[in-house]
Amino acid sequence: MQRSPYTPGEVTAFLPGRETHMVRLRVQMQHVADEKAFIARPRVYVGSRGVGKTSLLRYGQRAARERGLTPVWITAGDADLLPVLSAELEKLTRAWHSAAAQEIASLIRNLELSVSVAGLGATASPGQGRSTAEAPGQALEALIAATAHSLHRHGGGLAIFIDELQAADHTALKALAYAWQHLRSRDESPLPATLVAAGLGHTSDVVTDAATFGERFEFVRLKDLSREAAYNALSEPAIKFGVSWQYQAVEAVLEKAHGYPHFLQLWAHAAWESAGFPDPGGTITLGAVEASEDEVLEQLDVFYRTRWGKATPAERELLRAIALQSSPAPRRADVAAAMGKPTTAISMARRSLMDKGILDSPARGLLAFTAPGFSSYILEQDGTED
Ligand SMILES: Nc1ncnc2c1ncn2[C@@H]1O[C@H](COP(=O)(O)OP(=O)(O)OP(=O)(O)O)[C@@H](O)[C@H]1O
Ligand SMILES: [Mg+2]
Repeated sequence: MQRSPYTPGEVTAFLPGRETHMVRLRVQMQHVADEKAFIARPRVYVGSRGVGKTSLLRYGQRAARERGLTPVWITAGDADLLPVLSAELEKLTRAWHSAAAQEIASLIRNLELSVSVAGLGATASPGQGRSTAEAPGQALEALIAATAHSLHRHGGGLAIFIDELQAADHTALKALAYAWQHLRSRDESPLPATLVAAGLGHTSDVVTDAATFGERFEFVRLKDLSREAAYNALSEPAIKFGVSWQYQAVEAVLEKAHGYPHFLQLWAHAAWESAGFPDPGGTITLGAVEASEDEVLEQLDVFYRTRWGKATPAERELLRAIALQSSPAPRRADVAAAMGKPTTAISMARRSLMDKGILDSPARGLLAFTAPGFSSYILEQDGTED
């Protein structure tokens, strides 16, 4: 009996279909490490929930570490981002016991002060406080420059990774965009630093809403896996365990998962278990896939029900209208028209569903569900439960 090599709900280090992105990440980290380069455009991997963003970002973190860079990892959304970032930088530099560490500690306090003043700005009377403290973007710029310089003196550099960027607060996004814009034009000694992030499909809207320089970020969309990549995602982990997939079994899972990484892992994991945790030399048959079907469908039901449960009545109305369209990625205007509303009337529900990771915009003006099969699930609802 061997445990399943599949990773439903877990980050994976095996990333078929992402080879081009992995090469770019490696080259980028090498560029920062070897040439002490500052990478002027922050890169943001965007895509639907469960498409593999965090897994790729973790790959970038490992690539940075392998090149001798110091990675700093943060996940946005739980708390305001800048205090979390400064706490991570403080952790990093606390052990240094050098003048540089003291400088960084004082820059961290500056940043904290600027953030609290910016926070007050919303409620305080005009002019209060702001003139005495720097803006968060300036404070962040100085902090990142000092940290990168210090790391450089020890032969390294700074690589910042931010997951769930779409959930970052407005102040932090603005400060990040400002700091990166200004760092690129600092013509002092080498500043080895890079910023890579990941977020849901509408992250570019969130970033450009918050920051004037937001459009200078590079947004790279991760899509569902090609047939070949999905095939490799199933077969390669099994081969490592000496197990093979019957042709019909692979075909069945490929068809059920539609190239969506999250579903591929669910189906493959369940098939492995119903094949009896095969020993080396074993085979996963179509029978095993079929035997796992009830269990997977139950999990999918929970998956869809959770999403449906998160939607408000107005959002459900929009979801139903999308599900009723014949195209899998209908035009926003067509959906609104079918609801008898102007496009602007659905924009709040649309944005909120995007924040919840239920809806995506695969291209400008288009709408699509983030998971295959959700449309059928919605149409199966009788509409009386809300
Ligand atoms: N290239 C890939 N091939 C096969 N499976 C993958 C690949 N990338 C990720 N996965 C799997 O897909 C699922 C989702 O991965 P991951 O958590 O990295 O996605 P995500 O886009 O960050 O999701 P979320 O938006 O929910 O945070 C996991 O089960 C992971 O093991
Ligand atoms: Mg993730």
